[in-house]
Amino acid sequence: MIELENIGKDFVLGDQTVQAIKSLDLTVTPGEYLAIMGTSGSGKSTLLNILGCLDAPSRGNYLISGKNTTSLNDDELSTLRGKTIGFVFQSYNLLPQYTVIENITLPLLYQPEGVNPEKIAYAKELAKLVGLEDRLGHRPTELSGGQQQRVAIARSLINDPLIILADEPTGNLDTQTEQEILALFDTLQERGKTIIVVTHEQEVGERAKRVVVMRDGVIISDKENAHG
Ligand SMILES: Nc1ncnc2c1ncn2[C@@H]1O[C@H](COP(=O)(O)OP(=O)(O)O)[C@@H](O)[C@H]1O
Ligand SMILES: [Mg+2]
Repeated sequence: MIELENIGKDFVLGDQTVQAIKSLDLTVTPGEYLAIMGTSGSGKSTLLNILGCLDAPSRGNYLISGKNTTSLNDDELSTLRGKTIGFVFQSYNLLPQYTVIENITLPLLYQPEGVNPEKIAYAKELAKLVGLEDRLGHRPTELSGGQQQRVAIARSLINDPLIILADEPTGNLDTQTEQEILALFDTLQERGKTIIVVTHEQEVGERAKRVVVMRDGVIISDKENAHG
């Protein structure tokens, strides 16, 4: 479903060019749970941004469900992104002035159907899935870090995406809360989502079924986890 062919990404800063991704091939099939690991600066976030169509590759092809994203214009890309991909970030990226239920429904504002009673009912269902059904009217500052990340996960699901992309989702959380968030990812995979998690933490990588390791802009290993 996800196919990267010969992908590269350069960043040009003045007279310097950083090859964040040198050359990379990757295929991810529907329902896979993949971790992308590697030291800081190895190109993990750059790869995730390309996978999420937040950033275009400098070369190569990126196909989602057979459709080549490199030939789409900005509008087509954002439509595809909205329908297909949910994002979870290390810093949660919630809007502080909005309540839990408003943050969960936020991505709907960018969709043609907008917010409707059916979608609000679905948002409440997602809040329940992440264990926040009794916090719907709270604002992010009134929640713990783990609860904020749960809101972000519920928000990532509101358009029922095929793919969840998470960049260091437990990087700001204690071990106990990290385990709770990882349990939630297990649940999402059981529900058929494709999950790609960037992490430099061993215990997070171990939860995925497959681990890709990057170094200096290339993949240096790609293995199934033994217990997976
Ligand atoms: N927007 C950018 N402009 C210039 N260089 C960048 C940019 N984003 C990333 N890089 C560089 O690309 C390389 C890979 O970065 P990144 O993908 O963030 O690594 P990781 O997420 O594995 O820590 C690093 O050398 C980084 O400095
Ligand atoms: Mg990063």
